[in-house]
Amino acid sequence: QQEQTFVMVKPDGVRRGLVGAVIVRFEQKGFKLAAIELRTIDRALAERHYGDLRTKPFFSELVDYLTSGPVCAMIWQGEHAVENARSLIGKTNPAEASPGTIRGDFAMDIAGNIVHGSDSAASAAREIELFFGRHAASHPLDLF
Ligand code: CMP
Repeated sequence: QQEQTFVMVKPDGVRRGLVGAVIVRFEQKGFKLAAIELRTIDRALAERHYGDLRTKPFFSELVDYLTSGPVCAMIWQGEHAVENARSLIGKTNPAEASPGTIRGDFAMDIAGNIVHGSDSAASAAREIELFFGRHAASHPLDLF
């Protein structure tokens, strides 16, 4: 079933020049790129994006980090896109992420884990709308 998911190369990934490497992996897996934008986000958007984590002790550190430089926000589309993207990205903690996954290969630190991917279809719809607006949310495009 065609689905869309939200993926973001976070500021450390952009700084380290890993945007291309992340895109290559998604393309090689078979995903289709439906939208992409490089931008520096403000605290309000970062706080909304990570709203579920508002009560965590690392929340303000997380918002500082996410607003510390440009991110590369993307919508990727394909069969069971949310689940396939999560397996490609690997576990949240890079120390537990298998080699072969993006985090397993490119990151060592949970706070600098390179990339974010939506954890459910509902999160994907919410995050796509937050970053790309209502018109972009929740309907797979008829892509190339
Ligand atoms: P992400 O997939 O973007 O979703 C939430 C983020 O919170 C997660 O990746 C991590 O980067 C971050 N995170 C999770 N746990 C911790 C932690 N214990 N300390 C700092 N950051 C964390």
